[in-house]
Amino acid sequence: MEVKLAKTAGFCFGVKRAVETVYKEAEKNNETIYTFGPIIHNEQVVEDLEKNGVFVVNSVEELKKLQPGTTVIVRSHGVGKAIYDLMEACGLQIVDATCPFVKKIHRIVERESKAGKSIVIIGNDKHPEVEGIKGWVCGKVTVIETFDEAKAFQMDANEQLCIVSQTTFNYNKFQDLVEIICEKGYDVESINTICNATEERQTEAKLIAGTVDGMIVIGGSHSSNTQKLFEICKKECENTHYIQTLEDLDIDSLKNCECIGITAGASTPNNIIEEVQKHVRIKF
Ligand code: F3S
Repeated sequence: MEVKLAKTAGFCFGVKRAVETVYKEAEKNNETIYTFGPIIHNEQVVEDLEKNGVFVVNSVEELKKLQPGTTVIVRSHGVGKAIYDLMEACGLQIVDATCPFVKKIHRIVERESKAGKSIVIIGNDKHPEVEGIKGWVCGKVTVIETFDEAKAFQMDANEQLCIVSQTTFNYNKFQDLVEIICEKGYDVESINTICNATEERQTEAKLIAGTVDGMIVIGGSHSSNTQKLFEICKKECENTHYIQTLEDLDIDSLKNCECIGITAGASTPNNIIEEVQKHVRIKF
């Protein structure tokens, strides 16, 4: 029996980099260190980090209570300028694990807003990444996620507009929303800042699921990107299973398969993927 493991399964470049940064810092420091928000949404990783002396601060209030000199790691989503300023003012040691692709958006909105342009971010206003991007805009900023919001958007005719996107936004929807805004006749520059890690993972999952007779999708139960991967795979391969860890795997349902595919959502650690892969190879 053949096993096809997706090359894009699990952490994207930015998350992998952030997680590795945290472990490196934990090794270097004897004292407790902190991440501002959970480094990834995966309970096992957060628990393991706690064992290594890494804890999470969840709010500005909690940040303010930390002792000067304490190390605080900024996660891949990034944060606004005011948070860096606050951390500096509190004398905290900042280790910046913001994904470079997100950092690039910070630089764009800072530059363009300083040049006097209004900023539109296409994305989810509640997402921490968008929160962070907003925090680098010096002037006006609007977040647009839906067609209705794009249709309702208005600004002065003499203003200039710069549109960017949350890195994980759907490309086709981004284009449609930009088109709606452009139709209003404003002076618009739109910069596609979507990261293709998510799309590549989905494209590869679809390709693999189309060629196997059993498919395993690994990821947290609340992970929306894993849910999406599962739906994509299920359409291609009826015998698709969504598991969080090896314990959830009903190996009997795969016993008649000649070829099994494996992929995983963006916050699934490599050791879980490896464990599932090894188990499937041993069993068959
Ligand atoms: Fe990941 Fe960075 Fe892209 S965090 S999804 S590589 S923007």
